[in-house]
Amino acid sequence: MGFCKFPMFGFLCLVLVLFGVHAEENAQLMNDRASLLSFMSGVVSDPGHVLENWNSSDVHVCKWSGVSCNNAGDRVTELILNATWLRGTISPALANLSSLRVLDLSRNFLQGHIPKELGFLSQLRLLSLSSNLLEGKIPYEWGFLHNMVYLDLGSNRLKGKIPDSLFCNGSLSLQYIDLSNNSLSGEIPLKNECGLKELRFLLLWSNHLVGSVPQALSNSTKLQWLDLASNMLSGELPSNIVRETPSLEILYLSYNAFVSHDGNTNLEPFFASLVNSSNLQELELAGNNLGGEIPYIIGDLSTILVQVHLDTNLLYGSIPPHISNLVNLTLLNLSCNLLNGSIPPQLYRMGKLERVYLSNNSLSGKIPSALGEIPHLGLLDLSRNKLSGSIPDSFANLPQLRRLFLYENQLSGTIPPSLGKCINLEILDLSHNTISGVIPSEVAGLSSLKLYLNLSSNHLYGPLPLELSKMDMVLAIDLSSNNLSGTIPPQLKSCIALEKLNLSHNILEGPLPFSIGQLPYLRELDVSSNQLIGEIPQSLQVSSTLTHMNFSFNKFYGNVSNEGAFSSLTMDAFLDNNGLCGKIKGMPKCRKRRSSHHLLILSIILSLIAIPILCLFGYRLLLRSRFRSQLAVFNGGDMEDDEQENKEFKYPRISYEQLIQATGGFSASSLIGSGQFGHVYKGVLQDNTRIAVKVLDPKTSGEIFGSFKRECQVLKRTRHRNLIRIITICSRPEFKALVLPLMSNGSLESHLYPSHGLNHGLDLVQLVNICSDVAEGVAYLHHHSPVKVVHCDLKPSNILLDHDMTALVTDFGISRLVKGADEGVSEKVTESISSKDGLLCGSLGYIAPEYGLGQRASPEGDVFSFGVLLLEIVTGRRPTDVLIHEGSNLHEYVKRHYPNKLEAIVEQALDRSCGAPSAMPQAYHNVWTDIILEMIELGLMCTQITPSARPSMQDAAHEMGRLKEYLSNPSSLQLSSQKTAC
Ligand SMILES: *[C@@H]1O[C@H](CO)[C@@H](O)[C@H](O)[C@H]1NC(C)=O
Ligand SMILES: *[C@@H]1O[C@H](CO)[C@@H](O)[C@H](O)[C@H]1NC(C)=O
Ligand SMILES: *[C@@H]1O[C@H](CO)[C@@H](O)[C@H](O)[C@H]1NC(C)=O
Repeated sequence: MGFCKFPMFGFLCLVLVLFGVHAEENAQLMNDRASLLSFMSGVVSDPGHVLENWNSSDVHVCKWSGVSCNNAGDRVTELILNATWLRGTISPALANLSSLRVLDLSRNFLQGHIPKELGFLSQLRLLSLSSNLLEGKIPYEWGFLHNMVYLDLGSNRLKGKIPDSLFCNGSLSLQYIDLSNNSLSGEIPLKNECGLKELRFLLLWSNHLVGSVPQALSNSTKLQWLDLASNMLSGELPSNIVRETPSLEILYLSYNAFVSHDGNTNLEPFFASLVNSSNLQELELAGNNLGGEIPYIIGDLSTILVQVHLDTNLLYGSIPPHISNLVNLTLLNLSCNLLNGSIPPQLYRMGKLERVYLSNNSLSGKIPSALGEIPHLGLLDLSRNKLSGSIPDSFANLPQLRRLFLYENQLSGTIPPSLGKCINLEILDLSHNTISGVIPSEVAGLSSLKLYLNLSSNHLYGPLPLELSKMDMVLAIDLSSNNLSGTIPPQLKSCIALEKLNLSHNILEGPLPFSIGQLPYLRELDVSSNQLIGEIPQSLQVSSTLTHMNFSFNKFYGNVSNEGAFSSLTMDAFLDNNGLCGKIKGMPKCRKRRSSHHLLILSIILSLIAIPILCLFGYRLLLRSRFRSQLAVFNGGDMEDDEQENKEFKYPRISYEQLIQATGGFSASSLIGSGQFGHVYKGVLQDNTRIAVKVLDPKTSGEIFGSFKRECQVLKRTRHRNLIRIITICSRPEFKALVLPLMSNGSLESHLYPSHGLNHGLDLVQLVNICSDVAEGVAYLHHHSPVKVVHCDLKPSNILLDHDMTALVTDFGISRLVKGADEGVSEKVTESISSKDGLLCGSLGYIAPEYGLGQRASPEGDVFSFGVLLLEIVTGRRPTDVLIHEGSNLHEYVKRHYPNKLEAIVEQALDRSCGAPSAMPQAYHNVWTDIILEMIELGLMCTQITPSARPSMQDAAHEMGRLKEYLSNPSSLQLSSQKTAC
């Protein structure tokens, strides 16, 4: 266009250029452009986001983000804007995109009704609006979508009936229908005259559907997944349908009101109809109140079957030994039925079993010793039956056994010492039986026990074994209601993770050791109904964690303060001790004793003088003897293969001496935490940098050294705002420490569960930001860091908060460096770890179920822990607490309330993190509720049993980012002026 040089042609030139662009767009494309613009005007996407290049004059419609055209470039055929932060409503104008074949607006915040006009998009093949906030009914007009193959409206708030037209007048080519997780009601409108012959996936779980499974489904002979769980469907189990659908892989009918044949007495016809489904992998019929015996023919089902859930029904009779033909089964759940007879020893033939639940039945006889031959058995729950005899010795052969529940039976005999060989056991519950004898030292020394040891209500006698002090990870020990005697060993203080200790109703004597009060996490202590004597130790009153205590029915005496941890106690905690006095209401007042008072003051004065002298003396001595020799200035220097890296990652040189000075000689007052791998001290360097010094315990040196090296390697290679940064490493043969910046706001743990004194919970904005930070940090470890890293131990105490409440993930002590990303180092490390896999990874309550069942540490395991963290934040309950009190995992507990019984959980979450519901504007209330619901959903997604079904950490980070955005952008709510505390 040479003549554009001449100014007088300028205007003409501009017109020509504009005309030029539009000339390429024919009339139809102009129409499509107008429809898209009209769609854009109904939604908000933040600046810098997806719709930014829409309607810019120099971008062709077909190049707009999310938009695709046909080959000729004259019609819009695809609009894909999933997970793009869209808010607002769906414009009916989209219906004018008459060549549209794919419309994906899933995973956004779209509200309002689904426009019925979309039903006129006759070319549409894929329509996904899942995971939005859409309300109202599914439009009748959708029956005109004759070419639809894939329809996903799951996880919205749709109500009303499913229109008949959708399944009947509609597309015959439908292969995938997902309407799950809405509030749809009425029957499933599939009539005989309408056959969905191509249907492979029908997902309608979690709605309010009633009626029976429509017979016409038997025309869908290619059906692979049928998930109707959690509705109110009734009628006989659909045997006529499953007989015609031999491709079934997944059949979920749990939590409905189905009955078995012959008036809910006969399960045989249904199981017989499933025999030809040779691809069946998972069968779930739980929670239906199904009657009848478990038919013999169950053993003739597909041997590919991996999971069978028949729990919470009314099944009676005995367990058919023939079931053991299902050799690929990993999970068998028959709990909560009326089963009797004995446990068939043949079960051992199912050599892949990992989890077996037979609890809450009337099973009798002995526990077959053959169960000890199931090599991968990780969980065995036989609780609440009528089993008798003794516990078989053969359990010693179960190296993978993690959880053993035998409580509430009639077991007798003694505890087999061989149980001590189950070196991965984390829960052992033998309570409420008639087991006698002493507690074998082998069992008391099970240092793997991470959650709880419950031997209460048995006939055990003898002393508390000293070996109990080896349980340094156990959270709860309950030995109550036995005949245990002797004294309480002060060594119990080595059980440093202990939160709950119940020794009540025994015949223990002697004093209550001072050291019990020093247990750093102890919250509940019950020593009532024993013969303990002496004063109640001061250490209990000054404990910052103890909240529940019971000292009643003993022989304690002395002055009891009503301060500190005792301030919340009443006289009920001190009944019948005769010798106690003090300010607790109902307790006799103490008489003043001058002499002892004076003595006390004297001793305080003495110690005030003596301690500094001793310290000074000792410190000098220490310096002279230990540090004059080769002084420890290391920049990770003695880590063999690190020479090269030290040059790359220059650390400031900080000597051991400086660390001693900074931490007051690693004094008790600067101790801020203890963990499996050592202690953490706070300190201030001379330049006023506040630091945390993580000193690794040299006692368990082999393991520790590995962990130290791993942590160093990980920390050195990672740079991210949500991962803790390393200041330096101090490493001598007998002293190894990491120096990290001190985070002024402590750990997330201390904010979620403030002990008395410190009482500021976090608000919703902070919580969402923290979760987003954590997800970003871990996603970096998984996807972007130079060495791929699996964190392995994600939990609130490993999340630190900066001065501005930015969350930083820490404690890579047990991280796994994943092979592949950075050969040199990672390969070696992976090898060295694999031998002890499963021993080190994770903390109870947060650990993925597949760990310990032969699975390696994996990114999916971290995603699981992150999911638990989300659910913990929303419910305000520790996963271990739920486990102890409800006997189920946190995610199972939440799932039981999902989606229709969440009100209480949501209300409590709002209460805790947003102030009183009455005080908040309705619009905020709605938004906050949405956010909490979304966090629950993400938490449940991340904690799915099947690792591959969980989202990636990157997806999770993306979701959290979306929520953060949604919450922090008040303009999107048109309410900016009213923003309140939350
Ligand atoms: C959007 O959906 C497509 C498949 O339809 C998927 O491949 C893609 O990852 C999704 N994008 C996001 C951001 O979730
Ligand atoms: C579907 O199957 C039923 C019998 O179950 C039959 O009567 C009906 O004709 C079939 N419909 C189609 C469309 O094939
Ligand atoms: C067990 O499952 C695997 C994987 O699905 C399959 O290859 C194998 O054939 C199954 N075993 C039997 C006996 O069916």
